[in-house]
Amino acid sequence: MAKFEQLACQMRKQLQEGIWQPGDKLPSLREKSIHSGMSLMTVLRAYQLLESQGLLISRPQSGYYAAPQLAAPPLDSASAVNVQARVELTEDVDVNAFIFDVLQASKSPSVVPFGSAFPDPHLFPQRQLTRSLASVARRMQPRNALDNLPPGNEQLRKHIAQRYALQGIAVSPDEIVITAGAMESLNLSLQALTVPGDYVAIESPAFYGALQAIERFKLKAIAIATDPQHGIDLDALHQALNDYPIKACWLMTNFHNPLGCTLSWENKQRLVAMLEKYGVGLVEDDVYGELYSGLQRPLPAKALDGKGLILHCSSFSKNLMTGFRIGWVAAGQHARNIQRLQLMSTLSASAPMQLAIAEYLATSSYDSHLRHLRKTLEQRKNAAIQSLQSYLPYDVTIYPSRGSYFLWLELPPGLSSTTLYWQALEKGISIAPGKMFTTGDKYDRHFRLNVSYEWDERCEQSVKALAALIQQQIKAMHSMKI
Ligand SMILES: Cc1ncc(COP(=O)(O)O)c(C=O)c1O
Repeated sequence: MAKFEQLACQMRKQLQEGIWQPGDKLPSLREKSIHSGMSLMTVLRAYQLLESQGLLISRPQSGYYAAPQLAAPPLDSASAVNVQARVELTEDVDVNAFIFDVLQASKSPSVVPFGSAFPDPHLFPQRQLTRSLASVARRMQPRNALDNLPPGNEQLRKHIAQRYALQGIAVSPDEIVITAGAMESLNLSLQALTVPGDYVAIESPAFYGALQAIERFKLKAIAIATDPQHGIDLDALHQALNDYPIKACWLMTNFHNPLGCTLSWENKQRLVAMLEKYGVGLVEDDVYGELYSGLQRPLPAKALDGKGLILHCSSFSKNLMTGFRIGWVAAGQHARNIQRLQLMSTLSASAPMQLAIAEYLATSSYDSHLRHLRKTLEQRKNAAIQSLQSYLPYDVTIYPSRGSYFLWLELPPGLSSTTLYWQALEKGISIAPGKMFTTGDKYDRHFRLNVSYEWDERCEQSVKALAALIQQQIKAMHSMKI
């Protein structure tokens, strides 16, 4: 065992024995080095190892602290202890204010929109859609407002059902409810499966929309560790399903936002088997499913849904037109309840927008638009990765995705993406800091970049500016710690 591993092992024991309680500050690197007789580098590596195992957290310009304990109930088997570290309970989710600030900041046209969730609007067939909208507006009858009430425009639901059929998924138009974007379909689905106080399993990190919904509906979040390469930890989810009366899961099985990961087919099968065993519903957020890089669209877990437990939510916002705000849920047996909930909240998605998209889909231009869009996004992402690799310090990790238009980045230990966010914003650059995707500060070393925009000189200069800010933080950290 290397020296740093021996030291980490010793400290792990001390942490387990409670010598340092959650939140306690650990000796500085220099103090530890003097007391242990080991080099600063050995001590740093030991601390970093413990941090990667979730036992320590580093606070910029402050040092290392014992990680907060999980609020989950005690588990009895020794092997479950490791799993417990990958399950985190939050009784009182409160994330809205920070997310709102970040989203507002990335809206200004003078700000480089790396932090935005929206794809470059120039990628959309604006002219064709406007033509469809003008044409349906001319032909619209007073009755149409009523025809397009929940479950939504019949033609549009048929088109969507046909697209499911092309993937080999049998969804009847009657099971589909048209909504105002995926955000509404996701929220209605969660509402259909839960009542206030219920437990909901989500990924960690998670799309902030899930955190906001959980906060708004007064639910309790069980956050399951999710890996940028392999997706949600299914052992941890299994443990959570065993330990808590979970009523619903809200997961992204394809091109997770912010991580970019896609669950393998085998893991989707395992996930569905688990849902069936525990009789738990899944709100499946698949808004980026059409934006794949390879040859084939990855199937959603919905394709395996034999028992009607999956409410598959998606929209045209990310791949056709953001502002039209048209989405849907393939809700199966929950379709009627979702319509009822929709009637009590927004009433329906906008009739002209539903009609315009139905008309556009009938022209069969959608698939060629999607092919072009996927190719452009992939080229832009590759250009961005190249630029980031050239300028960012070598120990910043970039997690590329095989779809969508986000990159997830990890800063070296001791750095903060929240600090980077504020500093970058002063220079007119937005990023999406890890804090947006969690209830604690677990992902304060991570951030998401939107790379859907044309990779021009402005982007290149912005990456250089981000690199300089990161270097600045590294220098400040070294001067504080040594
Ligand atoms: C993961 C995820 N789900 C849902 C949505 C909301 O989609 P829509 O704009 O269709 O409401 C977004 C938008 O950013 C998203 O990133």
